[in-house]
Amino acid sequence: MYKVNENYLKLPGSYLFSTIAKKVNAYQEANPDAKIIRLGIGDVTQPIAPAIIEALHKAVDEMGQAETFHGYAPDLGYAFLRETIAKNDYIARGCDISADEIFVSDGAKSDSANIQEIFATDNKIAVCDPVYPVYVDSNAMAGRCGDYDFKTETWSKVIYMPTTAENGFVPEFPKETPDLIYICCPNNPTGTTLTKAQLQEWVDYANRIGAVILYDAAYEAYISEADVVHSIYECNGARSCAIELRSFSKNAGFTGVRLGFTVVPKDLKCGDVSLHGLWARRHGTKFNGAPYIVQRAGEAVYSEAGKAQLKEQVAYYMKNAKAIKEGLSKAGYTVYGGVNAPYIWLKTPEQMSSWDFFDDLLNRANVVGTPGSGFGPHGEGYFRLTAFGNYENTLEALERIQKL
Ligand code: MLT
Repeated sequence: MYKVNENYLKLPGSYLFSTIAKKVNAYQEANPDAKIIRLGIGDVTQPIAPAIIEALHKAVDEMGQAETFHGYAPDLGYAFLRETIAKNDYIARGCDISADEIFVSDGAKSDSANIQEIFATDNKIAVCDPVYPVYVDSNAMAGRCGDYDFKTETWSKVIYMPTTAENGFVPEFPKETPDLIYICCPNNPTGTTLTKAQLQEWVDYANRIGAVILYDAAYEAYISEADVVHSIYECNGARSCAIELRSFSKNAGFTGVRLGFTVVPKDLKCGDVSLHGLWARRHGTKFNGAPYIVQRAGEAVYSEAGKAQLKEQVAYYMKNAKAIKEGLSKAGYTVYGGVNAPYIWLKTPEQMSSWDFFDDLLNRANVVGTPGSGFGPHGEGYFRLTAFGNYENTLEALERIQKL
């Protein structure tokens, strides 16, 4: 008789955004006339920029001609895209990263879930609390998290690093020594950042204790302040301790197109074993390459026209962020984030629990957000709104919230 992976049975409930979607769908069914505004999941609303659409059309046409048809993509990504990424995202920022250290994938969500596979199951992970749920859930599926305690909403073998208003959303080095440290900056869900100096301390710490930082930079396009780095490789010594995960979803609206990449520097070694080699082996075995047409679209993100159009798109979302932040502050809410990230993290009013506030907002204002406790116990009492909606809806949602 076969057995299932019992680690799955330890997972609490369903994936956060599936739970929210179910609740919202049930509400909409019961209230068919309600005009629900969704500022929950960080999904983009602006259409793909014209320069990218043009590249997609061109690549589709190429697929229809025998001379320019492409079959399986190289499993690590086409050279044209890897070289463009290296040049624009790394060399231009003074980071010593080469094209062959970049692994193209179908997105940062899958990479951030899969990267743990190249590490031993008895490695200890450290995560910020609150945290993007994929990091913890994927490690739990692999059996690295111990047991889940429903009372404390924590896993027995995970090191949690609280990031709350009290410590300025800056994690402190944990008492227990971790092997793998997840850092997301700009942060999902809090929308806050670490300065370059603060991140450098984490890089030095990881090198000192022999840990790897899994650095999620999916939101780097939203950085507006000069002392926040766009890549962890802007910090000295990061090549020997950090893996960086990047996405095309948030900077170029590829949530439905799917493209991302992971950087594994060749200096990153566990004894004699190169993590670059392990990830290449894993990627080569389990992934058949992002589609040619999508990689051409990714290349267009870095064209002059693409860059200009995406700068506007990011500015559009950040206008929403500013409106939410200012509007909520005026209404008496305490708000964080929204300066270098498309997320606003607010304190729930009158010490309401995050899920109570979720229900209240859905029922009375028909606005959907994300309960902070869904990201971890220290997210309790907080709530996340995304700036990825369209401007008119965002203003309407604000108006409704202000009237509550
Ligand atoms: C979020 O809302 O946290 C993100 O959109 C989820 C994701 O990028 O997978």
